[in-house]
Amino acid sequence: MKGILLAGGKGTRLYPLTLGVSKQLLPIYNKPMIYYPLTMLMLAGLREILIIGTPQDLPQIKRLLGSGEQWGVQFEYAEQTHPKGLAEAFLIAKDFIADEPVCLILGDNIFFGTGLWKQLQNAAQLKSGALIFAYPVQDASAYGVVEFNDAGKILSLEEKPTQPRSRYAIPGLYFYDSQVYQIAKSLKPSARGELEITDVNKIYFEKSQLQLELLGRGVAWLDAGTHENLLHASNFVQTVEERQGLMIGCPEEVAFRMNFINRQQLRTLGETHQQNGYGQYLLRLLEEP
Ligand code: DAU
Repeated sequence: MKGILLAGGKGTRLYPLTLGVSKQLLPIYNKPMIYYPLTMLMLAGLREILIIGTPQDLPQIKRLLGSGEQWGVQFEYAEQTHPKGLAEAFLIAKDFIADEPVCLILGDNIFFGTGLWKQLQNAAQLKSGALIFAYPVQDASAYGVVEFNDAGKILSLEEKPTQPRSRYAIPGLYFYDSQVYQIAKSLKPSARGELEITDVNKIYFEKSQLQLELLGRGVAWLDAGTHENLLHASNFVQTVEERQGLMIGCPEEVAFRMNFINRQQLRTLGETHQQNGYGQYLLRLLEEP
């Protein structure tokens, strides 16, 4: 399976912050936002990752992430000229996907919690059909919404309904087989003029090929699309990191724990930044039993 990280869009809800900087490069406490979804793909075991961004922002994103070699992964980059919708990612990624299953994660989605690693590893085994997640929120009207029965059978899918049929939002983390390109190609823009990811999911659902998994109470899912959420996400990361002394969304650490890099490579990365807390944290990981 390959990974796609969608980091385009105008970030208009975050103006003026995003007038000069890509939303996905804004800080979430001590790291750029993009580190958090990126490390989710790495935790799923994916090492070939396509990063999609706007032509203006892609040079800065490349400067930050490079080839991926330093973390034992391989990045490719592609432009999305206009934000025509999440499902356009699969059209842009046509050659990258080729005949492989793919995981799409949105560049402003942050996940943290127990059992997540196991769920990701399982999801990355997907060979046919699609898999989405459900997460309970106070108000689901700003999201894709899934309604399901007691047996976990999906009943309906809707994008940003004014009156949600359930309080389960669909987070921006999706697993698809290689049909996804043809499905995305068949879509028509929605009333708001976008190729909707929810329409992709509806097609899998109509074919009875859509699986649903619950992200439980032990998992935090945050999307950092508004000023309030950006601050909440930073506060959340700070609280957990300060208490535990462990970082969330640290690519060097994930690469090391996933055996994408060895001790010596981690030491070199740590030594490069040893004058600051980030580098010292990486070096401290080497002392763990
Ligand atoms: O966060 C999860 C939600 O993401 C899902 O529940 C919804 O079903 C899905 O439509 C999406 O809703 P949003 O309203 O949050 O999507 P937004 O337009 O904010 O885009 C999400 C991210 O994707 C954001 O970081 C910008 C980027 N993006 C968006 C579009 C439309 C692109 O890179 N290209 C695009 O064309």
